[in-house]
Amino acid sequence: MARDFSKVGVVGLGTMGSGIAEVLARNGVQVVGVEKDEAAVQRGQATIEASTQRAVDGLKLTAPERTDLLTRIALSSDLSSVADCQLVIEALPEKLEVKVDVLRQLHDLLAHDAILGTQASALSVTELSVGTGRPQQVIGMQFFNPAPIQPFMEIVRTVVTEPDVVEDVVALAERLGKEPVVCDDSPGFIANALLFGYLNHAVTMLETKYATREDIDAAMVYGCGYPMGPLALLDLIGLDIAYEGLETMYQRSGDRLHSPAPLLKHMVSAGLIGRKVGAGFYTYEAPGSSTVVADVNTPSDEAASGSVRDVSSVGVVGSGTMATGIVEVFAKAGFDTIVVARTDEKAAAAKAKVAKSLDRAVSKGRLAEDARDEILARVTPAGSREALADCDLVVEAIAEELSIKQELFADLDRICKPGAVLATTTSSLPVIQCAAATSRPGDVIGMHFFNPAPIMKLVEVVTTVSTDPEVTRTVLGLCRTTKKIPVTCSDRAGFIVNALLFPYLNDAVSMLEAHYATIEDIDTAMKVGCSLPMGPFTLLDVVGLDVSLAIQQTLYSQFRASGWKPAPLLEHLVTAGYLGRKTGRGFKDYSS
Ligand SMILES: NC(=O)c1ccc[n+]([C@@H]2O[C@H](COP(=O)([O-])OP(=O)(O)OC[C@H]3O[C@@H](n4cnc5c(N)ncnc54)[C@H](O)[C@@H]3O)[C@@H](O)[C@H]2O)c1
Repeated sequence: MARDFSKVGVVGLGTMGSGIAEVLARNGVQVVGVEKDEAAVQRGQATIEASTQRAVDGLKLTAPERTDLLTRIALSSDLSSVADCQLVIEALPEKLEVKVDVLRQLHDLLAHDAILGTQASALSVTELSVGTGRPQQVIGMQFFNPAPIQPFMEIVRTVVTEPDVVEDVVALAERLGKEPVVCDDSPGFIANALLFGYLNHAVTMLETKYATREDIDAAMVYGCGYPMGPLALLDLIGLDIAYEGLETMYQRSGDRLHSPAPLLKHMVSAGLIGRKVGAGFYTYEAPGSSTVVADVNTPSDEAASGSVRDVSSVGVVGSGTMATGIVEVFAKAGFDTIVVARTDEKAAAAKAKVAKSLDRAVSKGRLAEDARDEILARVTPAGSREALADCDLVVEAIAEELSIKQELFADLDRICKPGAVLATTTSSLPVIQCAAATSRPGDVIGMHFFNPAPIMKLVEVVTTVSTDPEVTRTVLGLCRTTKKIPVTCSDRAGFIVNALLFPYLNDAVSMLEAHYATIEDIDTAMKVGCSLPMGPFTLLDVVGLDVSLAIQQTLYSQFRASGWKPAPLLEHLVTAGYLGRKTGRGFKDYSS
């Protein structure tokens, strides 16, 4: 019989504690919430009241249910008021000395069989437990932010946590409607271990002026379908919490990628710690608000203004998936589009692929038949590059091999009229190497579309040291005309999305290799805990393990960060021919 937790204490009513108190009370548990002083009690109360009111406004809770919920929460600044609780969860700042001090006092106050739960996200639960006098009854209870909404929990056991304590807390998590995963005490557990390196890298990108905060965030939202970008997420988590978490993970892992980016430290020192104070990477309407308001870093229309080149005709070189997708994008947006392949037959086949894709849209009722015919009439197939002579923009999407692309760019230089914009859709090669193959590097730019191009909103617009700002403005405008979301970034391996995504996927493989957690648990932690569209192994199998390995190798060879070395398990699977869905087996087996 699992213990029945009818009364639970929550110490610390900040971002997490207030949410934990709410979720407990919502599920019928009596809650005693404790803060450090009366002012903090008032703040905690206001947070809970506002959050439950939002739930009522959003029809997630009725007004009488809210009243009931609030009557189940008693707040105090006196720690001894939790003395008769069977479980007390600490949600204090991520500082060892603060947590140990309170946990020790709780040990003295509570009945001998009461359980101590810690919300520590990077500190060692084992280290916290030894100071308490009851290490067997200490357990990590990692709720995710916002606690009332996120349906996932990591339950962290140490080598001495008693099995019945784990069982009881798992049963409680289920009663609260959460999906719990039990894991051992390791830096960052599952989700934060994978998440924090990614967040830290995003801060480094901003710090090195690689891309703007808006573009970094938009890249992950529109390129990967994440619910929010990394910098907005840091504002939600709290920069102080993330800083302490990274610092602790670095102390424990020694991985330089966990060493907090200096900018993070500076922002914490300046008090810019995120939504809870109304300012972090972004500025908010008020402390606790999620509404972003303009500030000095908001891009102005003025910065985007300036001359642009006229573009009415577009050429696309290539006949594969990306090329035909890009042809569809431009033709749909009203541009006369020439698709150039190596032979007339191949060019005709490329146009036929576009037609097939449009036919699918017609059969699904998303496109009218006459609109399809108009779009197709704008597409001209050509078996010779000479047909590109009068195009205002040429986008190449041919084989991902530098020598092949350089030969093409040298030829485009010969063929295209002066002032034509020449774009490559490479996902891993340096754009500047394509530019250098021409006598007009200022006209060369990267337009990294995502697959499938007609559907995916994001385009990474990659500028080299030579790209003419007029060319950049022209391409940004064109992307908007074609209803894409453009982000600008520098010419570095992985641009924004792949540089942020693949090291995280590689970390997940290393975690699996270390036997810390299973494929299913890691996928659940990231999908359910972090609301990502899919877990890392599902995604790796979709992308293809060979493609993923190649991207990781490119990143590693450019940046040489030891933590980015491709995981041996990934290499072995590729060697074995287990490439993911396309071969029926990758990390998972798709044969049945
Ligand atoms: N913020 C997140 O997204 C997130 C997610 C998962 C886990 N966590 C973890 O949850 C814990 C709490 O994080 P948070 O974001 O809620 O921090 P927070 O800064 O928002 O809240 C901490 C609260 O503890 C209170 N406090 C400090 N000393 C106290 C004392 N002696 N007695 C009672 N209250 C005291 C503070 O007044 C504050 O309200 C940390 O361990 C953090 O790592 C945070």
